[in-house]
Amino acid sequence: MSYKDGMLRDGALEDKVILVTGGGTGLGKSMAAYFLSLGAKVVISSRKNAVLEEAAKELSEATKGEVLPLACDIRDMDQVQNMLEEAVRHFGRVDIVVNNAAANFISPTERLSANAFHTILDIVLKGTANMTLAAGKYWIDGGMPGVFLNIVTTYAFTGSGYVVPSAAAKAGVLAMTRSLAVEWAKYKIRSNAIAPGPFPTEGAWTRLLPGDLAAKFDPANKVPLGRVGEHQELANLAAYLVSDFSAYMTGEIITIDGGEWLKGAGQFNGFDAVPKPLWDQMEASRGKK
Ligand code: HXC
Ligand code: NAP
Repeated sequence: MSYKDGMLRDGALEDKVILVTGGGTGLGKSMAAYFLSLGAKVVISSRKNAVLEEAAKELSEATKGEVLPLACDIRDMDQVQNMLEEAVRHFGRVDIVVNNAAANFISPTERLSANAFHTILDIVLKGTANMTLAAGKYWIDGGMPGVFLNIVTTYAFTGSGYVVPSAAAKAGVLAMTRSLAVEWAKYKIRSNAIAPGPFPTEGAWTRLLPGDLAAKFDPANKVPLGRVGEHQELANLAAYLVSDFSAYMTGEIITIDGGEWLKGAGQFNGFDAVPKPLWDQMEASRGKK
């Protein structure tokens, strides 16, 4: 057994209907694939219909599960509302929402136009708010329990230069996760988040680390465990957090980053660079005082 294997038992998500925003690519698609293999019915949603159709075909062939692709720009509340209604019409209900859709520019902040800054805020924070309001009202009005899983980042709590609109928006999503965990607990709605470290996806890597940047800033070098993430290990955590096995968990933000953000935070962590002879020298000189 390894972290590259599925973790939950067969049928762990049987009969659950799970809506994954940004589910046609990257981590969203990997989570969708695992949810399907555990028996869930899955709605994948994003802007590009052709990408969604192709992903749905691939996912249903690979897992024999039922996938519904629904195009929607999460910045537009009417589109979000229609998409949710269509999902409910098709599958009879929606039980779980994974707020995964996002966008990001890597840029010195002073080079961003106001429109560029707002574009990221609109997709990440307003888009998540739209999906959360639509699904929350649907569950509350119907007297149904519900589960949110929000995909944030570790710089939602540390902040980070060069991705400032994304950091600000993800911090808002993190606050929303914790706030609604308490406010909507009385409606049996749970709300948790995952903060992933570096996981190779075309969306995050080719756009955020184009050309030489990928070689210069190899994300694995910043990870104490010495590697980037495997999609299956994130999918395992996501499946647990949306399943009934985590029924007593709400308001949690779980980091899965091989220790990356803590390495940057610890004052002396850079001492990895101290060579062994220097440690030997310091140790030897201790006894001589
Ligand atoms: C700076 C940019 C830009 C860029 C566009 N703009 N690309 N500014 N750097 N690379 C500016 C435009 O000039 C315009 O401003 C404004 O942003 C809106 O651009 P549009 O192209 O009109 O936007 P739109 O069609 O609405 O599409 C939004 C999009 C999207 C964000 C550009 O199409 C996209 O490509 N998304 C990529 C998905 C993505 O980023 N995935 C990674 C998520 S990973 P002006 O002023 O000119 O009108 C993540 C965490 C990763 O979030 C963690 C790290 C490992
Ligand atoms: P990705 O493949 O680019 O995923 C982003 C998804 O969001 C795409 O499917 C995109 O589809 C969708 N999207 C963008 N704008 C949208 C809009 N306006 N309306 C609806 N959907 C929209 O990148 P990823 O790496 O898998 O990222 C998935 C999640 O993980 C994101 O929340 C990201 O912030 C988070 N994350 C990733 C990493 C990593 O290392 N990969 C690290 C930390 C956090 P369309 O373009 O078709 O709309």
